[in-house]
Amino acid sequence: MAKKNENSMDEIVSLAKRRGFVFPGSEIYGGLANTWDYGPVGVELKNNIKQAWWKFFVKDRDDVVGLDAAILMNSKVWEASGHTAGFNDALVDCKKCRARLRADHLIEDNLDVKVEGKSLKEVTEIIKTNNLKCPSCGKSDFTEARQFNLMFKTYQGVTEEGNNIIYLRPETAQAMFVNFKNVLNSTHKKIPFGVAQIGKSFRNEITPGNFIFRTVEFEQMELEYFIKEEDWQKQFDYWQGEMIKWLEYIGVKKENYSIREHDKEELSHYSKKTIDIEYDFPFGTKELYGLAYRGNFDLTQHQKHSKQNMEYFDTEDNQKYIPHIIEPTFGVDRSVLAVMIDAYTEEEVSTANGKTETRVVMKFNKNIAPVKVAILPLSKKENLSKKAREVFDLVKTEFTSQYDESQSIGKRYRRQDEIGTPYCVTVDFESLDDDAVTVRDRDTMEQKRVKISELDKWLKEVF
Ligand code: GAP
Repeated sequence: MAKKNENSMDEIVSLAKRRGFVFPGSEIYGGLANTWDYGPVGVELKNNIKQAWWKFFVKDRDDVVGLDAAILMNSKVWEASGHTAGFNDALVDCKKCRARLRADHLIEDNLDVKVEGKSLKEVTEIIKTNNLKCPSCGKSDFTEARQFNLMFKTYQGVTEEGNNIIYLRPETAQAMFVNFKNVLNSTHKKIPFGVAQIGKSFRNEITPGNFIFRTVEFEQMELEYFIKEEDWQKQFDYWQGEMIKWLEYIGVKKENYSIREHDKEELSHYSKKTIDIEYDFPFGTKELYGLAYRGNFDLTQHQKHSKQNMEYFDTEDNQKYIPHIIEPTFGVDRSVLAVMIDAYTEEEVSTANGKTETRVVMKFNKNIAPVKVAILPLSKKENLSKKAREVFDLVKTEFTSQYDESQSIGKRYRRQDEIGTPYCVTVDFESLDDDAVTVRDRDTMEQKRVKISELDKWLKEVF
C-alpha cells in the first residue's frame, strides 16, 4: 500500500540533499538565509517544469508570445508600478530577544485575522491587544510596526550615490507592460493576446522560508493577457480553467489544492478580483499561484510616468483604449516543491529473503521526471559495460538518461526510485546473446524484456 508521509518537510529536505535535487545555498560558509541551490537532478526537474510551462502557455498557442527582459530596469519603472512606495512588509522587533518578524505572519499564525490592507497603527494594536508572543523567546514585548521595502537595492556605475540606485526586479510582470508597444509593433498581435516570461525575481524576505517555498531569489512564470475591459470576467474564468489544466498537466493532485478568492481588504487597489491557488503544504495551506484582474492600472501608470502612449487601436470597432490585463502568475520553485511533495511516496515492499522494507519512490508525472531512463549494466564486466554504453548512446539524445554501474543492482534501483526515474533498463549477460534488455517500471516494479533495436520506439510510446 502506498503511504504518503504528511508529517513534516524533513523527509523531502533530506531526500532533496541526498539525491541532488536541492542543496542549502553557500553551505560550506554556514549558508545564506533563504537561499537554495538546485543540484544535478533538481535542475533537470526545474527545467522540465519551465519547458512544460512554456509549451503549455506559449508554444502551443497562437495568442501568446514570449519575452526575456533584463532583470535590472530603470528605477522609474518601480515608481510607476508603485513598488518604490508600496512594496512593503510591516515588521516588528521583539524587544527582549531582538528577533525581527513580519507582523502579518505573527498575527495570521495566531489569529483568524487577515492583515492585508490594515494600517501600521491597526497592526500594532492587534499585536498588543491580543498579547501575541514572540515565537523565539515567548515574551510579548514588541516595537511598533514599521514598513520595510522588499526590493533589493544596488548601484549602477562607480559611485554609490542616490541617483545611481537601481533595484533587482521583484516581479517579472513589469517588463511585459513596459514592452507592450514593442511587442505590439513587432508582432502585430490583436487583442486579446498575451506576453509571457520566465525569469528570476528578488525579494528581501526576512522570515524563515520553509525550504524553497519563500526565498530571496526565485523564479516566476508570468503571463500578462491584454484584453478589452468588457471581457474581463470571461477571460478571468478562462485563465482560471487553464491554470487548473496546468496543475493536472504537471501532476499536482486535485485533493491537495484549492482556490481562495481575496476579500475586499486584501485586494490591491487596482484589482477587481484576485484568487490564490493554494496548496496544502506540510507547513500549512499557502499560496502556490495567483490570478489577478489588474484593470488597466499598469499601462495607465506607465503611460503617465514615461509620457509614452500606451493605447491600443482596435480596428474592429475603430476605438482607442488602454488595454486591461488578466495576470496568471506561477512560482517555479513553489511548483518544484508541490510536485516533490505530491510525488513523495513510501511503500512497503518484500525483499528476496521474505522480509519487508520501505521503498521511497518519487512518483513524478513522466513528462516532468528529471531523469527519464537509467541504463544499468548488471556487472562492471567489460563486455557488459560496452553493451550498456551502446544502449545509453542510443537513448540519451531523446530521453534524459543516467548511466550507473556503481554498487548492487538493488541499490541502483532504490537510487533511481528516489529520483523518480520512470524506467530502469538493465543490461545483463543474456543481453550479449539475445540483444534485449530488461525494462523495469518505477511504479509497478514490473519487468519486461525489450529488444535493443526496438527500445527507442518502445520508449517513445510510453512517454
Ligand atoms: N506579478 C504578480 C506577482 O508577482 P505575487 O503573488 O507576489 O504576484 C507570484 O508572486 C508568485 O511568485 C507567487 O504565487 C509564488 O508562486 C511566487 N513567489 C512570490 N514570492 C516568492 C518568494 N519569496 N519565494 C518563492 N516564490 C515566490
